[in-house]
Amino acid sequence: MSDKQTIFNWVYTEKVKDHFMNPKNILEDDDYQEDGKGLVGSMACGDQMLVAIKVENDRIADIKWRTYGCASAIASTSMMSEMVKGMSLEEAYSLTPQMITSELGGLPEHKFHCSVLGDKALRAAVDDYLERQGRDNPYKRQTAKIVCECKGITDQQIEELVRDGSVTTLGQLQELTGLGTVCGGCKDQADQMLHDFLHIYGK
Ligand code: FES
Repeated sequence: MSDKQTIFNWVYTEKVKDHFMNPKNILEDDDYQEDGKGLVGSMACGDQMLVAIKVENDRIADIKWRTYGCASAIASTSMMSEMVKGMSLEEAYSLTPQMITSELGGLPEHKFHCSVLGDKALRAAVDDYLERQGRDNPYKRQTAKIVCECKGITDQQIEELVRDGSVTTLGQLQELTGLGTVCGGCKDQADQMLHDFLHIYGK
């Protein structure tokens, strides 16, 4: 495919454009009194996401966010912030990047990795809320482990991508998530994990 064709294939849906041009629920007030806060990603990698939530009766009463990510990260987090208002903590905890991008009508495949920080920052905010309350976290069915520190990619995420058939090679995993594209220190472990999940799910 030529460069020209690649550029013309960067097609965003109207919803993506709208959420990028008019992002909802941006954190502008530095005195926002959140009940829980999650920060993931790193500025060194050019992607960082902050999510702050207010909680009432174990439901998300309000959410604000801030990111230094690209257009796709902004659109997907804006959409996520609209989706989770009123959700129970358990529902919010189960939200996946796939659910968010599907609500947006999809993202160009090579931009999918831009959408993966929002839901993780949201889970971190719920973790923080429960910790502040001195409560156990009943939503952590299993403890997700970070495999790629630079991009904040977890073992659960790799498992999910293998399970739904999105990924069968390390190259595809890197392209979709950005894993291994900064320091590269996670590639061996990720490759091993990928093979294990491919075996487990018979792909
Ligand atoms: S840990 Fe740096 S690229 Fe994965």
